[in-house]
This record gives sequence, structure tokens and C-alpha cells, in this order.
Amino acid sequence: MTLKAFRSAILDFVDDPFYRSELESVRYIPDGLLVLEQGKVKDLGSYQQLAAKYAGVATKSYPNHLLLPGFIDLHLHFPQTEIIAAYGEQLLEWLEKYVFPTERKFADKAYCEQVAPIFIDELLRNGTTTAVVLAAVFPESVEALFTECQRRNLRMIAGKVMMDRNAPDFLSDTAESSYRDSKALIQKWHHQDRLLYAVTPRFAPTSTPAQLAIAQQLLKEFPDTYLHTHLSENMKEVAWVQELFPDSQGYLDVYDQYGLVGERSIFAHCVQLTESEFSRLAEAQSAIAFCPTSNTFLGSGLFNLERATAPQSPIKLGLATDVGGGTSFSMLQTASEAYKVTQLRHQNLSPFQALFLATLGGARALQLDDKIGNFDLGKEADFVLLDPRSTPIMALRNQQALPDDLEALSDPLFSLMMMGDDRAVRATYIMGELAYDREAGLGI
Ligand code: GUN
Ligand code: ZN
Repeated sequence: MTLKAFRSAILDFVDDPFYRSELESVRYIPDGLLVLEQGKVKDLGSYQQLAAKYAGVATKSYPNHLLLPGFIDLHLHFPQTEIIAAYGEQLLEWLEKYVFPTERKFADKAYCEQVAPIFIDELLRNGTTTAVVLAAVFPESVEALFTECQRRNLRMIAGKVMMDRNAPDFLSDTAESSYRDSKALIQKWHHQDRLLYAVTPRFAPTSTPAQLAIAQQLLKEFPDTYLHTHLSENMKEVAWVQELFPDSQGYLDVYDQYGLVGERSIFAHCVQLTESEFSRLAEAQSAIAFCPTSNTFLGSGLFNLERATAPQSPIKLGLATDVGGGTSFSMLQTASEAYKVTQLRHQNLSPFQALFLATLGGARALQLDDKIGNFDLGKEADFVLLDPRSTPIMALRNQQALPDDLEALSDPLFSLMMMGDDRAVRATYIMGELAYDREAGLGI
């Protein structure tokens, strides 16, 4: 078997720094060697320790870079790529004014095929190797996306949006057609190579009770698919859900009534949750996608990270861009905005905690931590090389070489997370193969 190796400072997580000390949860190897065999982790340790054992192995070195597991973006929208940063509205008006007219374009297969490689390129150039993606209501949009992901050997999760009310006719399906189309997509794509399917009702207001029941039926028929939707993002939205479902005990209860709240459910935003809803998510072991750039951009509110990570009732949590409600594909920028959200709430988020959410935290939220999220032996080797001196001001800020100990790493790591963006991504590897290189450009 041919082996290959990468030499760099290496950082990953072996446990959750929200609940364990940094010493117990962070693995930092200042001069490390990551050894791969057939795209999976074969060995990991210090260069000193492993150099002799792998003396003949082709080794690529990235001095003064930080090698991390590929980022996991827990929630974003493929057909909103082109309306990122649309001015002046909050959620419901923004959907009507910008999102729905744009998503209409994805009825056209050729258009889907044109945008899919742009979308995937953008993920890779930001170091994101796995994402949970909403496509459009049209099955063609899922086809184009999965085809492109398969071509690049990505571990991706996606689904066709289901919406059979409160949307323009040109974007609406029916309960029956959403069942047929989703089922056909699951049968064709779920577990094809590294691809997985998420049953994706857009959010409670755009599904009839009949369609939510169909989503439940799909989950029963295909129990290892995911449930992916929005929850409790904006005050007007929450009030609207109460009007549409007057018998419910709140927004989450609508999903609960249809059996959609489980351990493979991912709920984006969760900004306006009540305490009992937080407790219910903890009990059900559902995951929250924290979308800070979107929540500030759309004026939705400040996510309560402290409550979500309360030791007495912890909730599975990851970080998400929510493009095009979010303003950047960069998980570094997303972590930066997450930090600012916690500051505004007088809470805190360490750089280790933020990068945990963007890697192993996301993998755990997806029950994929046996495959991705860190460099435990046997895991799929999706990883990113970060450059702490990627701009002149970052070079000034990080003049010192990367330190030898974990405590001293916190400062350069924090500056990288606050100031870094796509320019800080030197290279992205998928299953040990180079998929993006900053110097060589895109499309490798
Ligand atoms: N709620 C329902 N649809 C959407 C969407 O496209 N973006 C966001 N941020 N929230 C939603
Ligand atoms: Zn969203």
C-alpha cells in the first residue's frame, strides 16, 4: 500500500472543550506528522517520533501552517449562493424579496449545473469539506449538487426543500410530489460514495400538516437519513407559526407532533427558543446549527450559546454559515462573528471551543464522528492547512513562529479565527488528495 505523509503543526480535538479542560480536549502537535493510507488516517504523532518509521514515505511539509480537520458547515443554501449580501430586510421579507425569485432559477437543470461547481469551489477554498445543504424545491437542484459532490469525492449531506404552502406557486410542491421526489432522491443518492440525504421541510410555515406527516413517513422508511430544517429564528416567524398551528405548544412542538425531533435532526438558528424547547432538544439529542453571521445580518437576534452548552442539559451543536442569509462562506469568519455574538450577550467563546464546533462538534452533531471530525486512526482524511500570516496585518500580528505549547497557541489561534478568511486557507485536502491550493488556484 502506498502511504503519504504531511508535516505541519497539527491541531484537532479529542473531546469537547465546552465540558472538558483544554488539556483533555485539544490535541496539539507543534511539529506533527499525519500519515495516510488510501485516504484514511494511518498514523499521527510528532515528526520526531514517526520520522524514522516512515522514512521512505513521500512527505509534504507546510512549515508555519496549522493542519486542522476540514471544516463542517452545519447549514447553508446552495441556491442562495448568488444572493449573498442582499440589502435591507429581515427574514420573512427577505425570503419574499430576494430568496424566492432566485430559487426559481433552479428549476432549470443547466442553471443548477452551472452554479454547483461554483458553490463547491467556494466551500473548498474556505476549507469546508462537509456541509449540510438545502437545495431548492426542484429535484434537479439536488441532482446537480450531488453529482458535483460525487465528482469531487466529498462527504456531503443535502436534500430537496419541501414546501407546499405560503410560497409562490412557482416554488411549491405538494405533499404527494414531495414524497415521490424525496424518496427517489434518497434511493438514488443516500450512501452513494460519501453522500447522505436529509429530509428537508423548509420550515413549519411553508409546510401543511399533511407535508410534515410525509416528512415523518420518509424518516420512518429511511431511518438513517437526516431531518434538516429551520427553527425559531425570528420573532415574527415564531408568532406566525403559532397562528398557523394554534394547537401547538410552541414552534418546536410543531415538529415534535410529527415525529421530526430526533437524534438525527438538525435545527438551524434556534435564536428565540424557550427554556423548555432547549430542554427538549437536549433530551431528544437533536442538533442546533448556530448561524451567527446570518442571525446578525438578518437582525434575527443573538443565539444563547451559554444555555445551549449548559452542563446540566447539553445540546449537540455545530457552526454554520447559512449562506445566503449568512454573509460569508468562511467558517473562520463565522467563528469570528460567533465570538462577537457571545460578547454582546456577556458570554464567552474560546478559539478552541469555536474550532471544536467547526470540526469535531459538527461531526458529532451529524453522528459522523466515527468517520470525520478529527485525526483518530482510520478516519477519512479531509483536512485544511491554515496560514496564520496570510495578510500583511496578520503577518505583523503573528510574527512569532507557532508555539510549542497549547497555552501559548490560544493567542495566534484566536487572531487567526478573528482575522482569517479564505486567504488564510493555504490548501484543502479531500481523502488525502489535494482539492484546493491557494497558490495554484481552483479546480484541481
Ligand atoms: N427560514 C425559512 N427559509 C429560510 C432561508 O432560506 N434562510 C433563512 N435564514 N431562514 C429561513
Ligand atoms: Zn437557512
